[in-house]
Amino acid sequence: MSILVTGGAGFIGSNFVLDWLGQSDETVINLDKLTYAGNLENLASLQGDARHVFVQGDIGDFALVARLLAEHQPRAVVNFAAESHVDRSIHGPGEFIDTNIVGTFQLLEVLRAYWGGLADESKAAFRLLHVSTDEVYGSLAKGDPAFTETHRYEPNSPYSASKAASDHLVRAYHHTYGMPVLTTNCSNNYGPYHFPEKLIPLMIVNALAGKPLPVYGDGQQIRDWLYVKDHCSAIRRVLADGRLGETYHVGGWNEKPNLEIVHTVCALLDELRPRADGQPYREQITYVTDRPGHDRRYAIDARKLEQELGWKPAETFETGIRKTVAWYLENQPWVANVLSGGYRDWVAKQYGA
Ligand code: NAD
Ligand code: DAU
Repeated sequence: MSILVTGGAGFIGSNFVLDWLGQSDETVINLDKLTYAGNLENLASLQGDARHVFVQGDIGDFALVARLLAEHQPRAVVNFAAESHVDRSIHGPGEFIDTNIVGTFQLLEVLRAYWGGLADESKAAFRLLHVSTDEVYGSLAKGDPAFTETHRYEPNSPYSASKAASDHLVRAYHHTYGMPVLTTNCSNNYGPYHFPEKLIPLMIVNALAGKPLPVYGDGQQIRDWLYVKDHCSAIRRVLADGRLGETYHVGGWNEKPNLEIVHTVCALLDELRPRADGQPYREQITYVTDRPGHDRRYAIDARKLEQELGWKPAETFETGIRKTVAWYLENQPWVANVLSGGYRDWVAKQYGA
């Protein structure tokens, strides 16, 4: 038995692959294009492990994915592959359209052909789990109830619009062709292997380097934060027992303004790695121009997943953020390789290919 994971060298995907193989012997075929966000060093602990088969490639490459499906006959596909950074989507939306919309479409097409050709039992058991985001719903005002699974889609950035389009395609393939799909929409993740251009790892890395901590606008934008391993456990839960065609929200019930997040990171660093001059890291906070079209607030109502499938996050924000800051302090070589770009040469260095 095997599963195909796409985007499994990225932040959440690599955590998912490590988690999966930490508790199962079921082989993971990991298809990742290795864009700037893909880092095989995240999976270094799996080197030589036959349960992890890495393939560099694009979810939009029909022939490649068809070959992988025919060869490995996976019982499920978990689709993490995406362009994921809102700021990058503002500077250059093209790749977001290519991967998140066209790539997902191609993946659905090749999966439709594969699934359609399976024997009855395998066909009934097959699942495609599409990993999506709370950003597809747009922005909430203070006091609005959290997003439920029936909230209207109102994406505001090229990133969230492209993810919304992918969600709609996945939904349509269920309704039109009967494909056995599941969709999860999750809030902001944080934890190990988070690429340091996103808020939390950027603040840790910049603080330690003595650089400014850039807070967009007034820093009062609110996000819900979930420790990445809790997202992984939610995906496993939905994959195992989610109802076909359904969407499940995944969230941590941890709504916090960005400035509070930055202060928390600074306070943990003050405790765990105080500045040489004894001054607090929060002195490095700098207010910078706001993100264009910046969504003010996201909040996720995860009761459906909790009540239907019995999922609960294991970490509170306090425990998760402490683990995260400690991980970055203990994994400075990983950070250095990302910052120098050295991680991109890692495969050649490690495998000599
Ligand atoms: P990431 O940018 O860290 O990783 C994305 C991975 O996909 C990278 O390894 C990249 O190389 C790969 N990839 C990109 N284009 C590809 C293509 N065409 N074919 C194959 N692989 C490709 O992203 P992430 O933060 O790990 O997010 C993973 C998924 O979860 C995304 O779909 C994202 O929308 C969703 N999501 C992320 C968050 C979050 O807070 N990070 C929250 C909710 C949902
Ligand atoms: O909500 C889920 C989404 O969370 C995912 O779908 C995205 O893939 C993921 O990247 C993340 O998007 P955000 O835009 O919320 O994440 P980011 O870390 O880029 O920013 C978090 C908040 O912090 C956001 O309000 C912008 C702000 N910010 C970000 C950066 C990088 C700053 O104030 N300063 C910064 O330097």
